Amino acid sequence: MMIRYLIALILCTLLSCRVPVDDKIYNSGIHVIPEPNEMAIGQGVFTIDGSTTIYTETDEWNSETELLKGRLTNASGYDIKLSDKASGNSILLKKDKSLGREEYKVNVCEDSIELIASNGQGMFYAVQTLLQLLPAEVEIGHPSRFILSVPCVNISDSPRFRYRGLMIDPCRHFFSVDDLKRQLDVMAMLKMNRLHLHLTDNQGWRIAIDKYPQLVECSAVQETYNGKKYGPYYYTKEDIKDLVDYADRLHIDVIPEIEFPGHSLSALVAFPELSCTGGPFESEQVFGYEENVFCIGNDSVFTLMEDILREVAAMFPSKYLHIGGDECVKNRWRECQRCQALAKRLNLKPKDGHSVEEQLQSYGIKRMERFISGELGKRMIGWEEILEGGLPDEATVMSWKGTECGAKAASTGHDVVMASMADGLYLCSAQGADEVEPAAMGGQSYLKDVYAFEPVPAELAPDMHKHVIGTQACLWSEWTPDVDMLEFLLYPRLMAIAEVAWTLPEKKDWADFLRRLDNMQVRLDEKGIGYHIPIPEGELTTNKVFTEDSVVLAFTNSRSLPMVYTTDGSEPDAKSSILPSLLVLHEPCTLKVASLTAGGRLSNVRTLAVEKQKFLPAVKNKITDKVHLKLADGLFFNENDYEKAKFHTDTMITAIADYGKDKFDFKKPGLAVYTGYFEVPESGIYTFKSLADELWVGDKRVIYNPTSSRFYEKKTQIALEKGMHPFRLVFSNRLKEGFATCWYEIDFQYEPTTEPS
Ligand code: ACM
Ligand code: ZN
Repeated sequence: MMIRYLIALILCTLLSCRVPVDDKIYNSGIHVIPEPNEMAIGQGVFTIDGSTTIYTETDEWNSETELLKGRLTNASGYDIKLSDKASGNSILLKKDKSLGREEYKVNVCEDSIELIASNGQGMFYAVQTLLQLLPAEVEIGHPSRFILSVPCVNISDSPRFRYRGLMIDPCRHFFSVDDLKRQLDVMAMLKMNRLHLHLTDNQGWRIAIDKYPQLVECSAVQETYNGKKYGPYYYTKEDIKDLVDYADRLHIDVIPEIEFPGHSLSALVAFPELSCTGGPFESEQVFGYEENVFCIGNDSVFTLMEDILREVAAMFPSKYLHIGGDECVKNRWRECQRCQALAKRLNLKPKDGHSVEEQLQSYGIKRMERFISGELGKRMIGWEEILEGGLPDEATVMSWKGTECGAKAASTGHDVVMASMADGLYLCSAQGADEVEPAAMGGQSYLKDVYAFEPVPAELAPDMHKHVIGTQACLWSEWTPDVDMLEFLLYPRLMAIAEVAWTLPEKKDWADFLRRLDNMQVRLDEKGIGYHIPIPEGELTTNKVFTEDSVVLAFTNSRSLPMVYTTDGSEPDAKSSILPSLLVLHEPCTLKVASLTAGGRLSNVRTLAVEKQKFLPAVKNKITDKVHLKLADGLFFNENDYEKAKFHTDTMITAIADYGKDKFDFKKPGLAVYTGYFEVPESGIYTFKSLADELWVGDKRVIYNPTSSRFYEKKTQIALEKGMHPFRLVFSNRLKEGFATCWYEIDFQYEPTTEPS
C-alpha cells in the first residue's frame, strides 16, 4: 500500500501533479466519528489548492490554526498560509459567543470553509471535524501531495454528554508518557475529553510523591517470580506535567486516581504500619484478590492520604480527583482492634443492610470527600462502592459493574459516569471468541454491543437524566503487557464509545458507523496506531482433522468482513483468494485465514493444520485405571526445561484431581506430570482443551501452552478409535503473565467434534 503511494508520489512529483485519493472506497461519503448531531449535505466540494489560505478572527485559537495549517500543508504539499483578511478560497475561523463551550459549526461551500466556535475547545472540535471531512490521507505523517477536497456540508454540533472518558491502568502494566500521548491523539480525534489514570493499585505505585519517596522506592518495581523484576516504572512530576500539558492542548482533562482504602497494597509495602496486621508486604506482579488494605482505624492513614492528595491535586489541574473506593476486602477490619475501636467510637451497628465494616468504609470515604471538596476545592469521584452507607451529594459516582448503581446514585442526585462492565465498557474483555483472541479478562465485549450501549438507564426518572454526565471505557492492564496490545484492545471499541458519548441516540446508525470506521482505520494506519480487526471464527480449533475424502470449513467474523486465505503455508495478503462461505478441502495443508478491511489491512492470521488422520488405535492390552504422578521442584518455562526435570516423587494416584491445584503454591514452583488413560465412547474426531502446559494423547502433543494461564482456550482435534487412550498432562506450577497456574483446575476436557452444516 505504502509502496504504491510512494511510487505514485514520485511519479507525481516528477510530473508536478497530485495524487487523487477521493476514489478510495473508504474515502467515499462523509465519515466523521462521532457522527455530528446536525448535518445537511450540499452539492459540490471545496478543494485545497496553492492559493487556499487560513484566516482567523482572533488569536485565541492559534494552536488550532497551527494544527490545521500543519496537516493541510503536510498532506497537500502546498504551503498553506495564514492570511490577515477573509477572502475567497479561505478557511475562516470565526467566533460566535452564543455557542456553548463544546459546540461548533462547520460550513463548507465550493469557495470557502467556515469554522465557528465560541472558544478554543469548540474550535478544536471544528478542526477535528474538518480533518475528518477530508480524505483519511490528511493524517499522513510525512510530506505528501494528495488532492484534498471537502464535500459541501453544514454541520452544527455539540455533545450529548459532557464527560466522555477513557480509563487506563498503568499499575498492572506500565505505559510511558509517549504511549499515553498516542492514545490522547486518538481521543482528541474522537472529541473525547477525559483521561482517567488509575495511578495506584496492589501491583504498583506509579506516581512520585515528594513527601513520601518510599512509595516509588518500594513499589515501582515488582517481583515476578520468573527470575525477572518488573520495573522500576512510575511517572515523575515532570512526566505528569508533560502529559497534562499535552492533554490540555487537546482539550482533554487528566483525572488522577489514588486508590483508597482497598487496592492499596503498594502503599502498604512502603508503610506496613498503616495496615491492620503490620505486614511486611512484598511488591509483586501477581494479579487477583488482595485482602490487605489500609487500616481505617489508624488516623495516620488519613494523614498520609491527605499529604498525597495535596501533591496530586497540585499536579493535575482537573476539577475531579478519583479516590477509588472499589472492592475493599473488609476481612482485616473485622479482626483489627483499631478498626473495631473506631466502629465503637462511631457507635456503628449493622444498618439498612450495611455491615459495620461497610459503614467504616463510608466513614473513610466521607472524610476524604470533606478534605477533597474543602481544602483542595475539587470534586471527588469514586467507583460505585462509595455509595454504600451514604455519600455527600457533591461526590460523583462511577458505575462500573453495570448501570444499576449509577441509576440509584443519579436518582438520589449524584452525578454519575457510566463505565459499565456488563455493557462491554471494560475493554480488557475479548473482542471475539476466546479461542482466537489473545488471553483477556474473561467475557466478551463486541464492538456492536459497545456501540449499542445506552448510558441513561430506562428506570431513571426523566428529571434525573441530567445527573448522568457521561460514559467511560476502562482498560485494566493485567492482559496488556505492552502498548501494541493496549491499542489492539482500545480500538475500534473506543470509536464506538465516543459516538455513544457524543451522538444523540436517534442519530446513531450501526451500519453507517462501520462504513465510517473503514475510513477511521486508515487514519489510524497513517498514524501508526494499531487496532483490532475481527479474527476469523466459526472454526475454533488450532487444526482441522478429517478421516475421509474431504473436509468442509466454515469461518465467520464478528463484522462480516471479507476473508482471504492460502493453503500453501504462505502468509495471506489483500490479494489472496477470497474465502468462500464453505471451504472444501481434499488434501492436508496449512490453511491460513485472515479478515480484510476496506483499507486493505489484514486481521491476525489464523493458521490451521488441516490433517488427514487415521483413527488412533485404542489400547488393547489391560491397563491401569490409576494415574501416574511425577513431581519436580524448580521453575520450568517450556519443553526444554521439562526434559531436564529431576523428579523427587514418583507415585500412583487414583485421579488427577487427587493431586489438584490446592496442593500447589506458585511461590514454590515445580513441575507435575500426570500420565494415565481416558476412554472415548465412539470412534470419531475429538476436540481437546486444557489450561495445562502440555497435553499429549499417545505420541501427539495436542496442547502446548508455555505462556498463558488464564482463559487459554486453544482447542485441538484428534481422530481416536473407540476405547482407552494414553494421556500425559504436564503442569508447570508458576506465575505466568501475573496469574498463578495453580489458581485454575489441573485437568483436560474433550468432546466429539460436530461438523458445520
Ligand atoms: C473495578 O473494576 N474494580 C472498578
Ligand atoms: Zn485496622
